Amino acid sequence: MQLLHSKRRKKQNSKGDNFLFPGSVIIAFNPPIHLKSIGVIGAGTMGSGIALASALAGYDVVLNDISDAFLQRAFRNIGALMEKASEKGKLSIADANAAALRIRTSSHFEHLKTCELVIEAAVEKLETKQEIFSRLSDICSDDTIFATNTSSLSITAIASAAKKPARCVGLHFFNPAHIMKLVEIIRGYDTTDDVMYRAEGYVKQLGKVPVLAKDYPGFIVNRVARNFYGEALRIMGDGNATHEQIDRIMQGNGFAMGPFQLMDLIGIDVNFAVTESVYEQFFGESRFRPHLIQQKMVEAHLLGRKTGRGFYDYSEKKS
Ligand SMILES: NC(=O)c1ccc[n+]([C@@H]2O[C@H](COP(=O)([O-])OP(=O)(O)OC[C@H]3O[C@@H](n4cnc5c(N)ncnc54)[C@H](O)[C@@H]3O)[C@@H](O)[C@H]2O)c1
Repeated sequence: MQLLHSKRRKKQNSKGDNFLFPGSVIIAFNPPIHLKSIGVIGAGTMGSGIALASALAGYDVVLNDISDAFLQRAFRNIGALMEKASEKGKLSIADANAAALRIRTSSHFEHLKTCELVIEAAVEKLETKQEIFSRLSDICSDDTIFATNTSSLSITAIASAAKKPARCVGLHFFNPAHIMKLVEIIRGYDTTDDVMYRAEGYVKQLGKVPVLAKDYPGFIVNRVARNFYGEALRIMGDGNATHEQIDRIMQGNGFAMGPFQLMDLIGIDVNFAVTESVYEQFFGESRFRPHLIQQKMVEAHLLGRKTGRGFYDYSEKKS
């Protein structure tokens, strides 16, 4: 297996191309794990989940956000996620406490200085992510790996703001990040094999399944998913069915969640930003056009579960 893989690598790891074909589950290569400390920037839905997944896997984590209030909220959320997992018998109290002790929170960027891998999970805006990579370049060592959890933006464009684009990579987790197994690993134009292997090693250490994706808008999963949401919104907008009916039908057809339930979980603002980004990056291809319903919901601050109301009302529910 190992020999077969090395031959394959020799043949396929030319610059700019993946060492296995896109979408392949990486199974053949098991790099040694050198990373110990992980920084996570953005303590929202995804950052909290990534921090938790990393701490549960034994990494020391520095969780960063722009204000202490956001960090306190994140710490409460992480506590609630662990409580839920231990109620279900999936996490012991001892492991939960050990993981909590491994997470430090800080609104000061300088505290990310010693992290070997920093994962950016801030808002889905190219300028914000570029600014973060640029600031990280000023404080971290040249060996530090900068990863972005962007859902749709170009890894190459984000990496262009870093001093060392070769040390940048896309690590696209899914929501909830401490539970979902799949992680897309995306190589930017300059990303080295070493960074790809270390990223792969980290993902495997989390007990997750790394999948290679090319640096195309939305990568694999989110590009496929655009029409799952988009067409559902158009059906509802045309008055053909309600969001409850569409969700029920899709669940009846074997989907774990319907498109509206999923949009509420992701965050209407995040989902709208991702759709806009994919639409723009494909030069306005009509099949990716965002829907006005989503825009209005963002304007009304109906962002889904995180604000208590989206397509559904969560104010009375505890989930
Ligand atoms: N929500 C999902 O289902 C999902 C899934 C996969 C990937 N993503 C991607 O992950 C990223 C974060 O999404 P989210 O849903 O967690 O968003 P979110 O709105 O829940 O959280 C974003 C957090 O980033 C913080 N932030 C903003 N600018 C910052 C900065 N300059 N420095 C530090 N922190 C900053 C905000 O204060 C907020 O706490 C986005 O790029 C999104 O596309 C989201």
